[in-house]
Amino acid sequence: MAQSTRGLYSLLRLPGAYTAFQQTIARGDPQRMLTERYIRPHPGDRVVDVGCGPGVMLEYLGEVDYTGIDIDAGYIESARRRYGKRAEFICDRAEEAVERLAGKADLVLGKALLHHLDDPQARAFLRAAAAILKPGGRLITFDNVHLSPQRRVARLLIALDRGKNVRTLDQYVALAKQSFASVESYLHHDLLRVPYDHCVMVCSNPRAPE
Ligand SMILES: C[S@@+](CC[C@H](N)C(=O)[O-])C[C@H]1O[C@@H](n2cnc3c(N)ncnc32)[C@H](O)[C@@H]1O
Repeated sequence: MAQSTRGLYSLLRLPGAYTAFQQTIARGDPQRMLTERYIRPHPGDRVVDVGCGPGVMLEYLGEVDYTGIDIDAGYIESARRRYGKRAEFICDRAEEAVERLAGKADLVLGKALLHHLDDPQARAFLRAAAAILKPGGRLITFDNVHLSPQRRVARLLIALDRGKNVRTLDQYVALAKQSFASVESYLHHDLLRVPYDHCVMVCSNPRAPE
């Protein structure tokens, strides 16, 4: 199972509840930090946001040509209602939808996606992301991470995540290196109001498919 969707988790499938939850537990504005420090979009960039949820990232990216992809029909419906005039949203599986996109991208985002994908799904997504990037383009991922040692509360909260494929930093990097020759990784320990650990990967120089 790649993600939990039952019980209390089903509440998070409501786009409003998900966005409110994100805003409540965030310390500061993690989306802005990610945008300014790692994504660094330019006006006119083609951006493909995979696992886009309700599409909130679009608010941070400025005047880009944005396509959001998510497997959850409710999130995609909400994103279309809110942002449909300025962006395209596709309801499909990450691995398959990215492969089918026409045209190349400057930036692919996988924000809180990889920990929802098992290894074969993650490999397929990373291969597809590598294939659609323009020369010089980058994939930016952001996920929760298992550390050793790790603060006990952080470990407990991460175990409760809907995504059932949280990995160590080495495991995330090893997966990404199968599709990208350059993978820079960064850890963050203070993006939520509770103890929690995240990692960011900036992936570039796609490897030629075997
Ligand atoms: C933690 S949410 C992140 C949403 C958004 N990127 C954000 O940061 O707020 C993970 C998202 O990945 C989506 N997802 C999970 N598995 C997927 C798959 N195989 N293909 C596409 N989207 C998927 C979920 O529906 C969910 O919207």
